[in-house]
Amino acid sequence: MFARWWCVTSPKLPFANGWYRVATSDEIVPGAVLPLRFFGRELVLLRTAAGDARVLDAFCPHLGAHFGYGGVVEGETIVCPFHGWRFSDDGVCVNVPYAKTPPPLVGKKCIRSWPVTERNQCIYVWYHARGQSPAYEVQAIPELAAPDEWTDMVWKQWTIRCQAIDVVENLFDVAHVKPVHKSDADVQCQFDGYRSVITANPAGRRRHGTVLTYLNGPGQGWSRHDQLLPFLVLTHVTPIDHEQVVWHIGVTISRAKNRDKDSIKAWIVNVVHHLAEQDIPIFEHKVHRVSPPLCEEDALIGDFRAWYQQFCDEPAREVTPQFARADVAEMGASIVHTFLRAGDE
Ligand code: FES
Ligand SMILES: [Fe+2]
Repeated sequence: MFARWWCVTSPKLPFANGWYRVATSDEIVPGAVLPLRFFGRELVLLRTAAGDARVLDAFCPHLGAHFGYGGVVEGETIVCPFHGWRFSDDGVCVNVPYAKTPPPLVGKKCIRSWPVTERNQCIYVWYHARGQSPAYEVQAIPELAAPDEWTDMVWKQWTIRCQAIDVVENLFDVAHVKPVHKSDADVQCQFDGYRSVITANPAGRRRHGTVLTYLNGPGQGWSRHDQLLPFLVLTHVTPIDHEQVVWHIGVTISRAKNRDKDSIKAWIVNVVHHLAEQDIPIFEHKVHRVSPPLCEEDALIGDFRAWYQQFCDEPAREVTPQFARADVAEMGASIVHTFLRAGDE
């Protein structure tokens, strides 16, 4: 009965500073505009006529139209769909077509532009809570630049109701492998600045070789599977807001050993997706524990959190217990008043 109305919710963790994938390159051709929602903000992705990907805040400084719905790229500029004001690709107002006297905004930067890198067939945006410049670079993955040796990427993404750290932390959570994935692995980790490397050797399955998983900041990861038919998995986790993330996975398979039959490739891709989908129901329904009671075998989770903290400006806060107010309504008014005050932040 107590558990029914003592409803614990996840804390709103700060978004970790870092590079995050926001689209795949082929989603946006030159001249196109795409609305995005990430980091709790409305954004717009555009590709100029010269082919450069740009990300701007979505709302026009004039009367607030969303550039992602009807905005038009002309050359290296974007034109607002509402009154036709024109802005450069880094957010400077360059023209107000109907103004006889240009307003003071003309010639000034008035839209926030976000640092963008295009690499690994993806478009990445740098997020920093206080607007600081990128502290590290997106890692280029050599397999993606060798199409003769590696198959075309197969991309898939899921929108999941959880926080970004929950997805990334799963890589370091050794004890979940048996209950959730029905397998076992010997796992070791190294942490080095913005990077971490996880070495996993599947237990008792020597033909399934070592898996090396790399993280470069909070948003970019990749795994090399040294198996009979080697394959590579790119994994990107990007927060939409404090309650949802996009988990984006790409798979490419070695063309070596003359074994790139479609059925084998499809089987590998299915296995990767299946493993992800075994985790997703857990992510969707869990809360984030800021100070979990870890045992010795969970030690890598603590190591991971210490490493991840370098990307967060604020320390994670303890869970604030809150009431499911509809249930509490059954209780007496004075008791409700007392508890609500205690539960308020
Ligand atoms: S709202 Fe964009 S030009 Fe008026
Ligand atoms: Fe998992």
